[in-house]
Amino acid sequence: MEIALTGTAGTPSPTLPDTSAYLVFSKVDAVEETERGVLAHLHGEQLRIELVRDDVVRLKMSRAGRFDESPTYAVCTDPLSAPVDFTVEREPGVVRLRTSGLVLTLGLEPFRVDVHRPDGSPVIETAEDESGRPVAYATLNDAFTVRRRCRQEDAFYGLGEKSGGLDRKGRDFTLWNTDVLNPTAAGEFTAGRGAADPRADRTSTEFDPYYVSIPFFYHHHYPARLMAGSFVDNGYRAHYDFTPSEAYSFTFLGGQWTEYVFAGPSMREILSAYTGLTGRTQPPPLWSLGYHQCRWYDYDQAAVEALAERHRHDGVPCDALWLDIDYMDGYRVFTWDRQKFPDAPGMLQRLRSKGFRVITIIDPGVKHDPGYPVFEEGLREGHFCRTEGGDVYIGQVWPGNTAFPDFTQEETRAWWGRLNAAHVQSGLAGIWNDMNEPATGDISPLPMRFEGGRSSHERFHNQYALLMAMGTTAGLLEAMPDRRTFVLSRAGFAGIQRYAANWMGDNMSRWDHLWLSIPMAAGFGISGQAFVGADVGGFAGGSNAELFLRWMQYGALTPFFRNHSATGNVDQYVWAFGDVVQELATEAVRLRYRLLPYIYAAFLTAAETGLPVQRPLVLDFQDDDTVRGIDDAYLFGPDLLVAPVLAAGQTSRQVYLPEGSWHDFATGEVLQGRRFVLAATPMERIPLYVRGGAVVPMWTEAPASTDGFFPRALELHVFVPLEDGSWTSFVQEDDGVTFAARDGARLRTTLTLTRSGRSVELAATVVGEGYPEHRREELHVVLHGAAAGRVAVDGTAVEPSDERWVLPNSGTGFLLEAELLG
Ligand code: NOJ
Repeated sequence: MEIALTGTAGTPSPTLPDTSAYLVFSKVDAVEETERGVLAHLHGEQLRIELVRDDVVRLKMSRAGRFDESPTYAVCTDPLSAPVDFTVEREPGVVRLRTSGLVLTLGLEPFRVDVHRPDGSPVIETAEDESGRPVAYATLNDAFTVRRRCRQEDAFYGLGEKSGGLDRKGRDFTLWNTDVLNPTAAGEFTAGRGAADPRADRTSTEFDPYYVSIPFFYHHHYPARLMAGSFVDNGYRAHYDFTPSEAYSFTFLGGQWTEYVFAGPSMREILSAYTGLTGRTQPPPLWSLGYHQCRWYDYDQAAVEALAERHRHDGVPCDALWLDIDYMDGYRVFTWDRQKFPDAPGMLQRLRSKGFRVITIIDPGVKHDPGYPVFEEGLREGHFCRTEGGDVYIGQVWPGNTAFPDFTQEETRAWWGRLNAAHVQSGLAGIWNDMNEPATGDISPLPMRFEGGRSSHERFHNQYALLMAMGTTAGLLEAMPDRRTFVLSRAGFAGIQRYAANWMGDNMSRWDHLWLSIPMAAGFGISGQAFVGADVGGFAGGSNAELFLRWMQYGALTPFFRNHSATGNVDQYVWAFGDVVQELATEAVRLRYRLLPYIYAAFLTAAETGLPVQRPLVLDFQDDDTVRGIDDAYLFGPDLLVAPVLAAGQTSRQVYLPEGSWHDFATGEVLQGRRFVLAATPMERIPLYVRGGAVVPMWTEAPASTDGFFPRALELHVFVPLEDGSWTSFVQEDDGVTFAARDGARLRTTLTLTRSGRSVELAATVVGEGYPEHRREELHVVLHGAAAGRVAVDGTAVEPSDERWVLPNSGTGFLLEAELLG
């Protein structure tokens, strides 16, 4: 049965489900102790409460007495592999599970599940419905719902790619991967309320659902400002409701309740634990952090080569050119249009010799075309999704009638992986997955079924893109085991970060959509996906000079930096809006390239810890009440605070500088934090601040491409803090494209900066065995925010040259000591 949880235009927003029709589980009959916790028997079902770590507990409810042990493909490790110390206590009416990080209280009658920290602060607390019944779990047909308490002043973050502001409190969200601009998806939308079709409302920045579904969120509890986390491992359509002031709920329309509850209490710890379960963004190839030029346009071979030439001629650094659907022969995936591209391998080789990588789009839809080998093979080998009646499901995408691979089948993923690998081996660098919600001409529920026809669309819809990326990446790695992969995906589910980057789909060339991408990227980042970016310049509708320039200045300081726009739009190349815009936009790209050593380190941090590259301020400053509402600025990597320009004609903007000291990157002014400042926004730059204490590694110049770029010198920009303390940064040098760094072929320099009064010390230690391409002979240390008198390196005084201390250093540690003047 379909429960009407989605609002339609004009109806009031959906609120907590009316549980009067649900069976509310109210009484636990018996509780047994188990190896990992306890097993409760209630209402003919079982609730498994299992400790994952000291600070993480899993709640798992059976259905019809059975447990779904692998509800989705999100979790990639065995959550119960590490031992956890715990005790079980029984008191009248209550069973308690206690670790060093949490106390879970199971109420027997009425049934409730509450988790607190040992100090009594709340993590999750069951809430009551209108009739006063605690709703720890209630079910109706295939749906289930869970209701919890919150306080009016609390905040909620996460759920991945969602529109609107960073704090989700006061709103409700549907998780159902949706092609936002697909006209047939209009019926899906619940937000942007008031307009018949929210996308037609030119002022709306709240469309929901979106392309990606991640059932993971943070609850920022006030007044203690401690964070708790929840990840429901379930891919069915879901509804999260944060509209009531003192409760929230989530409802899934199918599957089982398998929830990981994170006690935190910091956002960082929760994110690390969540990405420990669902995996982390992989170390990207360095070139993928460069500038990407993309456009939905009917290019031919000569036009692509001319485009490359123009970037080089005009001195616009660029690493990648992208080909959208028109490169194919009649939109048949894994083919080339031979008229337009008579010699694709030759073209790719020539582009590569100029430092360009090429990425092509691959949609999941395979043209229904007898005689087209991919379709024939897919049909013969049983790779396509079927309907309930057993027919191959046919939808409508670019090629017309289209079949969809059933990526839930391992052999299908392997087949798809081989097709992708062969395609890439013709000279490509990566794969762009689009329309993988999956988007078809049909609206849901789609008659497309999975697992060879045995499983419903509802179960796998949200995981379709994840499975597609999984197959693609595995195929690429199998064929090219020494090459880091690059896959870009539009849709996704929890865990997508293991296989692909995400771009935020079809935005519009509007100022509010520039803003929209800031909280959206942050939502992604704190939900495990670090490699994200919006279509720079805007996708739908023509961009204009000022919007384009401001977006380039901002986009250059986001994880994935790709200029992309829709067919029929005005040109949106760096040179398209005249000389001044070209010069300033090129400056922005150059700054990005000079910062690549810093950006690369931020990506490695994401791979190692789960900490995102584009971060909301609340991640680092969760005790500061001011930052929870800030979603027009963010940290790019650990130490750069970026405050984009969000409107035409803006000559200044307010920027909140959190605790610490902050260096204005452009003027060098050092400002005390925990206050708002008014920043000038002249056309040539957007406000950018560096955290005092940071050491930012930069290249001395911006290369045309990262390809083969192994410079002689590396700059270490030391941003002297106003306050005493110690800070750590790092830079890693490696070949940037293979996995050799994993086995030690790298130089990782850890930089510890310590200030104590007038003395500043920079201690560098190096690990790794180096790599063949290493050419660096010098480090250039540049001090910001203070002038140094005497400077000694490893005990020997050194003189500055051109305000920098040049250290002959090809990869060893050192100790630099400086006495500050004044
Ligand atoms: C929709 C994608 O979101 C967009 O980026 C792409 O250009 C078009 N499909 C055409 O492939």
